[in-house]
Amino acid sequence: MNTAAAIQSDPCKIEVKSLQYFYGKEQALFDVSMSIPDKQVTAIIGPSGCGKSTLIKAINRIGEISSDIRIKGDVLIDDASVYGKSVNLVELRRRVGMVFQKPNPFPKSILENVLFGPKLHGVSDRGRLEEIAENSLKKAALWNEVKDKLSKSAMELSGGQQQRLCIARALAVDPEVLLMDEPCSALDPIGTAKIEETIESLQSQYCIVIVTHNMQQAARVSRSTAFFMKGKIIEYDETEKIFTTPAEKLTEDYITGRFG
Ligand SMILES: Nc1ncnc2c1ncn2[C@@H]1O[C@H](COP(=O)(O)OP(=O)(O)OP(=O)(O)O)[C@@H](O)[C@H]1O
Ligand SMILES: [Mg+2]
Repeated sequence: MNTAAAIQSDPCKIEVKSLQYFYGKEQALFDVSMSIPDKQVTAIIGPSGCGKSTLIKAINRIGEISSDIRIKGDVLIDDASVYGKSVNLVELRRRVGMVFQKPNPFPKSILENVLFGPKLHGVSDRGRLEEIAENSLKKAALWNEVKDKLSKSAMELSGGQQQRLCIARALAVDPEVLLMDEPCSALDPIGTAKIEETIESLQSQYCIVIVTHNMQQAARVSRSTAFFMKGKIIEYDETEKIFTTPAEKLTEDYITGRFG
């Protein structure tokens, strides 16, 4: 595996250490190690089934909700294991927000969607809640479109607006990491461009990990890119290098569209 010195020298937020991930008897990740830097965007690419979603689900332990999973190795955030005995999963998922492939707003008002997390975490002051809602919607580049209809149902928004609402909902609990699993795959080009602009504006404040099937998108939004195949990391380097002079033949074949 090739890991550029430049990536290692950036401040590391997430350290994936020899991670093996099993669904029942089936192994989905094999000895994956990667340092994910803070305050920039890291892209995960690779063919369907290679373990991209599994990797990001291992970071906030969301996979454990529905599946019988087992892991070996570790994932550290700020040098502390997310698999430690004392880890509080509600707090972990506050720190590590997630945005999914299909926008999944709650069938509630726009405002209730954004404030769901803060209320769950005990914020009750009305002024503070209003401030959180406005800030989060502004960060997700949705405020101007919804500020006059906050009490309307989130289901009345377009797909792209719903996805930005889901980003606002994740940001409302003040996370440190934002995981995005193909956040644009259900959107049209305009909706996609808006999400990419939003990611760009957020990158200096968060550690962002984005899974994407869209190679141009990885090239546009990320600073580093990891290429996965069959549960293994094949190459991890600066995005520019991956897309211009990859070290591995498999990476080259994938990015030039020879398979996948
Ligand atoms: N809940 C689950 N139970 C059992 N096996 C699973 C589960 N989720 C994923 N897998 C298996 O783990 C492997 C990796 O799946 P994963 O969803 O991480 O791939 P992916 O790279 O995200 O694919 P895609 O691009 O299609 O989303 C696949 O073989 C898949 O069948
Ligand atoms: Mg996936």
